[in-house]
Amino acid sequence: MNSNIKSPTEQNFKTLISFLNKNLRPNVEWSINSEYPVAFSGFNLNNIKFIEERGEIVSHALLKYLMIKTPVGLFKVAVIGSVVTDKNHQKKGLAHTLVNNLTEQAKKDNCDICILWSDLDRFYNKHGFELAGSEEHLNIKGLKENISQVNTGGSIFQDSKNIDPALILKLFSNHLVGSVRSIKEVASYLKIPNTNIYSLWSPDKTLQAYAIQGRGLDLPNVIHEWGGNVPHLTQLFQHIIQKNGPFQLITSSTATNLVGTIKNKFVCEHDTRTLGYIKILNTQNIHFKVLRWARVHGEYHLQTFSQGDSVYLRYKSKNYQLPNEQALTRLLWGPLDRALISNLPEDMQDAILKVFPLPMWIWGWDIA
Ligand SMILES: CC(C)(COP(=O)(O)OP(=O)(O)OC[C@H]1O[C@@H](n2cnc3c(N)ncnc32)[C@H](O)[C@@H]1OP(=O)(O)O)[C@@H](O)C(=O)NCCC(=O)NCCS
Repeated sequence: MNSNIKSPTEQNFKTLISFLNKNLRPNVEWSINSEYPVAFSGFNLNNIKFIEERGEIVSHALLKYLMIKTPVGLFKVAVIGSVVTDKNHQKKGLAHTLVNNLTEQAKKDNCDICILWSDLDRFYNKHGFELAGSEEHLNIKGLKENISQVNTGGSIFQDSKNIDPALILKLFSNHLVGSVRSIKEVASYLKIPNTNIYSLWSPDKTLQAYAIQGRGLDLPNVIHEWGGNVPHLTQLFQHIIQKNGPFQLITSSTATNLVGTIKNKFVCEHDTRTLGYIKILNTQNIHFKVLRWARVHGEYHLQTFSQGDSVYLRYKSKNYQLPNEQALTRLLWGPLDRALISNLPEDMQDAILKVFPLPMWIWGWDIA
């Protein structure tokens, strides 16, 4: 089966895009590669895989590599996306073959974890993926105070795509958790169809805050990328609500100050949701990062380790076996299964709650 797996060449790239447009984007006027410009760029061709039968493309999936900067350290992350099989060739194991091939490739390329977004729970569980991580969803319905005009102290709102990507990148780089991006990548993301870009500028033309709403077919009316300090973002969100009405905001769980301020100033509903399906690829590297992060928190006795296929938590020279690697994934990024730790010594439970979850978030544009 593996011998049928191919990567596109410059010659058959267009045929592949037609297959994907037909199967994943049948009713839109843009092409799928304009929605995922980095995943479908020339330098990612080796990470795009498809299966042919009788000269026809019948199944596809791809990888995009990200470096995610977090306080725990840098994580090399493989994002899987655009998994699809022609409806006449489904249930023959083609998508499983491709996902298996891609996770093996990501492992060989030294990725720490693999992540994807899907509602196919059983399908991805079979590959060792676990729903884990968290993000904050805020359904912003209106302002608590009736303000007729936002007081910006002379700053100006701009609602256009005409914005220097270098300035966006500068504000984005201030996030505690975020991917490492190039100016060229940001420039290509800014061209994604079906996107609204809002920004706030100081009188001397410094970018103070930006918010990106929508991306192609995904995340309609959702602000999934943003940058700037909390007071400027609050002004920008006030402007958006006055101009376009209610919207949703998705943020990293590390943005506690922003979430708190929004809940204070806006009428909104807030819930914490899981980030996506995560699979650990480089277990040793993850154990090393946990050890270091525990020490940052003054927890010198807590660590995780593997022996053969078994995974353990170690505390004060005692080992506690975890059911499997998926349980480790849940322990590391949450949501924490209280039953998993309830029988452990109390001081160990405290240490676990101090060290985990590890801060991690993948932003809207990064999703394959
Ligand atoms: C989801 C999707 C990609 C699956 O593709 P596929 O090639 O049919 O997937 P597979 O054949 O590998 O697996 C599908 C099921 O068939 C079963 N299967 C695998 N080999 C089989 C075989 N030889 N005979 C019968 N069934 C088989 C698998 O067990 C699997 O069941 P599971 O979900 O319990 O694991 C496909 O249905 C699709 O394109 N859907 C529309 C797009 C979409 O939703 N994409 C998901 C984005 S994440």
